[in-house]
Amino acid sequence: MPTMGNLHAGHLSLIERAREDADRVVYSIFVNPMQFGPDEDLDGYPRTLESDEAALGKHGGVDLLFLPDLRTIYPYGTDSAVSVSLPPLGNDLCGASRPGHFDGVASVVLRLMNIVMPHTLVLGDKDYQQRVLLQRMLEDLHVPAAVVSAEIYREPDGLAMSSRNGYLTAEEREVAPGLHAELGSVAQALRDGACDYAALESVAMANLAERGFRSDYVSVRRAHDLAPPDVFEAGDERIVLAAAWLGKARLIDNIRV
Ligand code: PAF
Repeated sequence: MPTMGNLHAGHLSLIERAREDADRVVYSIFVNPMQFGPDEDLDGYPRTLESDEAALGKHGGVDLLFLPDLRTIYPYGTDSAVSVSLPPLGNDLCGASRPGHFDGVASVVLRLMNIVMPHTLVLGDKDYQQRVLLQRMLEDLHVPAAVVSAEIYREPDGLAMSSRNGYLTAEEREVAPGLHAELGSVAQALRDGACDYAALESVAMANLAERGFRSDYVSVRRAHDLAPPDVFEAGDERIVLAAAWLGKARLIDNIRV
């Protein structure tokens, strides 16, 4: 499974999920410059290899810890690298405010998969759009591997675990579970039969602002492909997704309905 390190319990839970399907588990840690925009946190991204190795060891270890360097992943350098170009969903939701991000993710994950040649790719559902796009990439490019997803791992107060939670100040950390709470309200309204999606989204955005977030989006989509409501059909599983800034941290979360 691919990670960028700074491992938390959410990352570690992926190992158990992997062991359900696989005899051997390969774990990679590589902070991928191609998925960071010019104004993003590549330089400050937490690199904590020593504690990551200790955490993996305590957790029973993995069969192979793959720690490639930049030249191994990008032999021609990042400026001249062959890059994967994803379909339009790559520029929607998180992709709308992070141009090139998902193409960068796809470009590294395909390289990692070509090196490791796993049967299964384990991905966490916090990065739900990433999972949908990578699944689409594997299918569309005939890569013989299946994606398995692992549930979002949450702190007791509901905050989805993320390496970027470390950017939160103590005060922001108190506010942060509000993102999950707002998604929970939208999910409940959907379960109760509300179907004015635009209204639900704008109320949630206003509530997030009130709580101190700078929200990027709140969006109700079809769960399996993230298509917008105008193509929903009866019985479709839905998902409500959000991204919002709190200080230096851009937090994302989602709930399926
Ligand atoms: O989710 C992440 O940490 C990254 O986007 C991933 C999948 C490891 C690719 O670099």
